[in-house]
Amino acid sequence: MKEKSSKPWGGRFLEATDEFVEQFNASVGFDKRLYRQDILVSRVHARMLARIGILDDQDCDRLMQALDTVAAEIETGSFPWDCALEDVHMNIESRLVELVGDVGKRLHTGRSRNDQVATDIRLYLREAIDGIDLQLETLQQVIVTLAEQESGTIMPGFTHLQVAQVVTFGHHMLAWFEMIHRDRVRLAQCRKSVNISPLGAAALAGSSFALDREFVATELQFAAPCANSLDAVSDRDFAIEFCAFSAILFAHLSRMAEELVLWASAQFGFIELPDRFCTGSSIMPQKKNPDVPELVRGKSARVYANLFALLVLMKSQPLAYNKDNQEDKEPLFDTVDTVHDCVVVFANLLSHIRIDRAQLLAAAQQGHATATDLADYLVQKNVPFRDAHEMVGKIVQHAIVRNRRLDQLELQELQAFSSLIETDVFKVLSPEGSVRSKNTYGGTSPEQVGLQVRRARQRMREFRES
Ligand code: ARG
Repeated sequence: MKEKSSKPWGGRFLEATDEFVEQFNASVGFDKRLYRQDILVSRVHARMLARIGILDDQDCDRLMQALDTVAAEIETGSFPWDCALEDVHMNIESRLVELVGDVGKRLHTGRSRNDQVATDIRLYLREAIDGIDLQLETLQQVIVTLAEQESGTIMPGFTHLQVAQVVTFGHHMLAWFEMIHRDRVRLAQCRKSVNISPLGAAALAGSSFALDREFVATELQFAAPCANSLDAVSDRDFAIEFCAFSAILFAHLSRMAEELVLWASAQFGFIELPDRFCTGSSIMPQKKNPDVPELVRGKSARVYANLFALLVLMKSQPLAYNKDNQEDKEPLFDTVDTVHDCVVVFANLLSHIRIDRAQLLAAAQQGHATATDLADYLVQKNVPFRDAHEMVGKIVQHAIVRNRRLDQLELQELQAFSSLIETDVFKVLSPEGSVRSKNTYGGTSPEQVGLQVRRARQRMREFRES
């Protein structure tokens, strides 16, 4: 056993840390990812200390140079990361002391790792959020382009996964657009929670130095300093909010992925996925598996689990900082990585699918998808809707028994059910006529889809500018 603690905080300790505890306690293995933010925070803190006269300008300059050196060492891989120094913060600080001696020891004045780490994570997450929002915008662009191209493409619309009514493929894409749009709105809201500065809260109580919290907040482009120092060092709501945004996003991505998997199957045959996004089977030579959408669907498990991990992590923690909080990083980083990768790969895949319009039309012609249109037709001729529903039910039964589609029945056959039915009924019974008639705001007609595509692009522009 080493006799004396060599830690930056070792003064009151009479023995060195147990070696296993050292490993157990360390976070540097994963929090070194925060090195850029940590260095930035140190720069701003040092400049603030110089402004309020705690550091002289020369020392501040030397610290800036040393921080440059540390950044370069980390980026070139020569930085001596040491698990015994526990985390990214103490690794960098120790290296500064090696590089510039006593000046390095002055940097931690009026600061604690508690406000430091909270500030680092917020900066990291803010940058991640901005990147993810751009990727979501790209995904929306892919979706809107498909909606425009396929505004008149007929397909079956489902409820209970049974053919329900005829819709257009473009309309289906615009439903996806809405999901992602709500996700972006939620993400923007989350960014506001992230964008507040804990720096200057110090360990928990604030500081006896006249720290300029406004200055550091402004320099780090935060909207404001956190209002309460106890809350500042212990709040992780913003991380939970990000994971909640991600969980809902994955509810959407998994639904879309599920549809791609179904559509690419031989049984549906609606789309074909490009070979380079699929894999084969080691035993069945004919297989082409939709691994990418399946994995996106499957990744929702870890994203939900990460949300749950953070909720449980924070539950019942007394104020203020507790070491438990070190456990916030891995679920958060994993969520950021997973969201990033899945949105990128999903947008890329979607922009390369091949759509089989003939197959979509054939599917729409199965299952008597225009039965409701026929009922509506009778209602136009003054039949009460419930009576029309009953009558069309019988017509459908008649068609099923004869193994024919509704538009393949003879006029006389239809007229046997109601003398109100005339030749114009065939317009209503065709899939094209059916979608054309659904011209209500937000409806499935090609005309509406065209309008909605324009509106979607407008909303994306407005969102970007907001
Ligand atoms: N590595 C720690 C974390 O991630 C940094 C803060 C440590 N603070 C403390 N009081 N031990 O939470």
